[in-house]
Amino acid sequence: MPATKPPRLLVYRRPWLADYQVSAIFCPERYGIVEASTKAGKTTGCMVWLAEQAMQGKAGRNYWWVSPIYPQAKIAFRRLARGLPPAVYVANQTELTLTLANGAIIWFKGADKPDSLYGEDVYAAVIDEASRCKEEAWVAVRSTLTQTRGPVRIIGNVKGRKNWAYHLARQAEAGAPGMHYAKITAYDAVAAGILAAEEIADARRTLPESVFNELYLAIPSDDGGNPFGISAIGECLAPLSSAPPVVFGVDLAKAVDWTVVIGLDATGAVCRFARWQGSWDSTIERIHAQTRTCPTLVDSTGVGDPVLETLQKRGGYYEGFKFTSQSKQQLMEGLAVAIQQKHVRYPEGPIRSELEAYEYHYSRAGVRYGAPEGMHDDCVCALALAVELLTARGAPTRIHWLRERDATESTWQHQRLGR
Ligand SMILES: Nc1ncnc2c1ncn2[C@@H]1O[C@H](COP(=O)(O)OP(=O)(O)O)[C@@H](O)[C@H]1O
Ligand SMILES: [Mg+2]
Repeated sequence: MPATKPPRLLVYRRPWLADYQVSAIFCPERYGIVEASTKAGKTTGCMVWLAEQAMQGKAGRNYWWVSPIYPQAKIAFRRLARGLPPAVYVANQTELTLTLANGAIIWFKGADKPDSLYGEDVYAAVIDEASRCKEEAWVAVRSTLTQTRGPVRIIGNVKGRKNWAYHLARQAEAGAPGMHYAKITAYDAVAAGILAAEEIADARRTLPESVFNELYLAIPSDDGGNPFGISAIGECLAPLSSAPPVVFGVDLAKAVDWTVVIGLDATGAVCRFARWQGSWDSTIERIHAQTRTCPTLVDSTGVGDPVLETLQKRGGYYEGFKFTSQSKQQLMEGLAVAIQQKHVRYPEGPIRSELEAYEYHYSRAGVRYGAPEGMHDDCVCALALAVELLTARGAPTRIHWLRERDATESTWQHQRLGR
């Protein structure tokens, strides 16, 4: 039996929060929904809120922090652990839990695994970056709060209008019972001294307007910052073409994603589409079998380089494309133009859903295109490579493929001009 320790008295003083943090997050309603500027203090405010909920809890009660993906939950875990005095909690690094002195447990979870979000009674929860969390995650979290009637805070940037967080925010804004809605702009954060005015002025200068509006003013764009345009993506849908391919684009699987081969016919319609995971040997075999008769642009970034070399040695018309943040940006701009001008067609399925999920990412380094955290963009890359090759064929400043008629079919020659 451990010696009984005398009860400890811990005095808690809430850290300073801006008025808007308090009114948005510490509202009496069970559902608090906040659409806010980036860096306005949503995460910080909700960490304080969840910690306070847990401090008022009892031994064994669960409190959840949910981030879009597990690695982000880990960051939140470390951040809250750093913010609390070491004497008041015990951290479990494997489970990502903080057990407070009163025995209440704060868990950090990723919405990318909705299965891990069922089965427990939860007494309060935060869903951070809600517009980036799967709807299944919200359904799961809500079910864990049913028994306890626990409160939840749903916070994030806005991101288009096609997500559950947007719809929930509209209900809250319309005054649905038990719901509180708050919108926090970057200017509110400047007025409170949390954000610097120069930073916003700089963002306004450098970001596309729709992106700035979403990130700093919490005004959703129709496309959620999709660089291709959601309606334009839909307008390019067509059944898989039965015409022969004239070019191929190949995106190679890196750590966890897929190898994708896309062939376009002479009109720009997708006529071949294959997607798989496998060893490099079998991958090279499959690519070669499908593409050796047509000009093919292959992702030659990193491990792609030796793959490209092997393909070239086997014969065919292979050219490499190295992805850098700049070259990818240019490649995607080319694809955006092709989609907006309907110079490309593709069938329903993963190509469309990856295109629709594509977004701007905002970081210290600036804005770049990419798939949302935890999602793939290999179909988009393969399509962009194929489009690059197809559109390049008529443009003298880009890649030119010269067919040598004197020998057999297999003696194509290619040259890179310009660029
Ligand atoms: N009440 C506050 N007092 C001081 N700094 C704050 C406060 N709230 C947030 N911050 C700081 O502002 C920055 C952005 O806060 P964060 O909560 O990460 O914003 P968001 O989640 O809205 O992007 C962080 O560096 C954080 O420490
Ligand atoms: Mg945040």
